[in-house]
This record gives sequence, C-alpha cells and structure tokens, in this order.
Amino acid sequence: HDQDIKYLRDNLTVYPNFPKPGINFRDTFSLFRNQITYKKVIDLFSDHISKLEVDVIVGLESRGFILGGAICYNLGIPFVPIRKKGKLPGKVIEYKYELEYGQDVFEIQECSIKPNQKVVIVDDLIATGGSCMAAIELLKKVKAQIIECVILVELSDLNWKKNVSVPTTSFIKFD
Ligand code: PRP
Ligand code: HPA
Repeated sequence: HDQDIKYLRDNLTVYPNFPKPGINFRDTFSLFRNQITYKKVIDLFSDHISKLEVDVIVGLESRGFILGGAICYNLGIPFVPIRKKGKLPGKVIEYKYELEYGQDVFEIQECSIKPNQKVVIVDDLIATGGSCMAAIELLKKVKAQIIECVILVELSDLNWKKNVSVPTTSFIKFD
C-alpha cells in the first residue's frame, strides 16, 4: 500500500491559482484518467471499505460519484448520491455549507436511505471539511448510521478536523 500511495501522490497534478488566486488545486481527474492510477485508487478504497460493515456507499457530487460507483461494483453494495441543489427529484432534504472557494447547497433524497443503514461517505478530497460536514448532517436527518468518511486526498492545513465529527480515513496527504 505505501508504495501505491507514494505513486499516486507523485502522479497527482496540481494547478496553482485555480479556481481562485492562492488556491493550489489538486486535480484528482489526473489519477482517474489513467487506468493504472484509477485502478490503484479503487483498490485502496475497496480494500479499506471491505473491512468495515457497510450497507451503502454515499458519494458526494461530483468526483465522489466516480469513486463510489466503481467501489460499489467491486463490493456488491448499493450507491446513493448526495448532489448539489436542484438535481434530485422527489422529496429531498437540503443543507447549506462553506468550502475552500465559496459556498454551496447539498441535497439527499429522503427515500434513498433506510433508518439505521450503515453508510460510508466517499469523496476525492477534503479541504475545509464543509462538504463532509454537510453530508453528515443530511445523513443524520435520514437516520443513517455513519461508519466513516473515506477520502482520497487530505489537505491537512485547512483544519477540516474541526468540522468533521466522524472517523475519517484519507490515503494521500498534503500540507
Ligand atoms: C471539491 C471536492 C470536495 C470538496 C472538498 O468539490 O471534490 O467535494 O470540494 O472541499 P471541502 O472539504 O472544503 O468541502 P467541489 O465542491 O468543487 O464540487 P465538484 O466536484 O462538483 O466540482
Ligand atoms: N482540489 C479539488 N477540490 C478541492 C480542492 C483541490 O485542491 N480544494 C478544495 N476542493
């Protein structure tokens, strides 16, 4: 695992000053568009999550979908999306949150989780933790049992730990 993680870290492209001046944007698509790095990423998540007792994987729009779908296929468990406002039909619950370069609103379909289902949240990156915190709040409202957040890239100096109240695993770390 350590060698795979170093390989992924070394192959993740960074774009300075995107989408705003001062932000070093770590572009996880640079790992998804190559079959070797994408497979390593999906295997890391699948190995980790297979050791937990999980009923459902919840992916955060948009890059959490690219991870979640493949992991669910691997593990044979269902996928549930949390999406940006206005995209999901039927009865939804919403939560407004802040992130590194602005603010947004997340929604979940009320019918998508049954009370007490064990869920894991997956996403490509954690910066302020605003997105994960919003997902946690929504999942609490539908009475899910949140087992863990599992994240590919952690930006350590953005202090997400203050915001995120559930156990979190990340594979690649940057200051
Ligand atoms: C990025 C990233 C995470 C979130 C992390 O997504 O993919 O979901 O920000 O930041 P945070 O920890 O400060 O909340 P973004 O909101 O840019 O959405 P997108 O994937 O739809 O482009
Ligand atoms: N990359 C991708 N998403 C992000 C980043 C980043 O560096 N910072 C906050 N969200």
